[in-house]
Amino acid sequence: MTAATSAARSGDKAPEISDFPNHVAIIMDGNGRWAKARGFPRAIGHERGVEALRRTVEAAQEIGLKNLTVFSFSTENWRRPVSEVNALFGLLKAYVKRDLNRLAEEGVKIRILGTRDGLPDDILELVDRAEKRTAENDAFNLCIAFNYGGREEMLRAAKAMAEKISAGEVEASEIDETAFARFLDTDGLPDPDILIRTSGEYRLSNFLIWQAAYAELVFLDVLWPDFGKSHLLDAIEMYRARERRFGGLASGAA
Ligand code: FPP
Repeated sequence: MTAATSAARSGDKAPEISDFPNHVAIIMDGNGRWAKARGFPRAIGHERGVEALRRTVEAAQEIGLKNLTVFSFSTENWRRPVSEVNALFGLLKAYVKRDLNRLAEEGVKIRILGTRDGLPDDILELVDRAEKRTAENDAFNLCIAFNYGGREEMLRAAKAMAEKISAGEVEASEIDETAFARFLDTDGLPDPDILIRTSGEYRLSNFLIWQAAYAELVFLDVLWPDFGKSHLLDAIEMYRARERRFGGLASGAA
């Protein structure tokens, strides 16, 4: 039921089927509402959101998941008050500073997806440090989408590809889905099998819009700061109960 290679997805062969997801992506939504319901400032909701992220990474490692991608700051989040943007930057810094050594020792490879444009120098430095320190790890991929938007990512990829074509390094006629995907921030990662959004909202919000083309969408009625292992397991159960067809026919329908 899962884990198609992108080559299989772009071709006419049925993808490889497995019962366990290879890659889970999460839109961690509802921090603000969680805080508001308790009379706290929104920043407290985000702080609790980081705790939920820690729990989720630990749970994902425990259950044997290999790839987890979380959405923690979108290119559209710049529209929020500057104090909230700064709070989110501060939380990324605190998370990396506090958890980097442990994650590195646990064999976690950290990747930050998104554009570096507009990010302050201290964040850039930290992001660079986290990626370099964990670059050789392969036990678990933790991808943090920060300053990320799916359309922006595709535009950057298209421009990078156009430059290669102009330079004569790539033939336009050779570009297929697999070749294009190599220009995306997720190069080398399998497409997500499951995309979870918490907080009862039913949108993709520009998250992994290329990569999630065949992901099973799971919308959970829990606010992100309350998310934990049981919710991750629930999402995987829902996924396992579904039949993925990748544009083909249901089994037994032919
Ligand atoms: C959406 O909730 C959440 C975000 C915009 C940020 C998610 C960030 C974290 C979970 C913590 C940061 C983690 C790192 C590693 C930086 P919302 O604020 O839109 O909630 P609302 O819809 O209830 O207002």
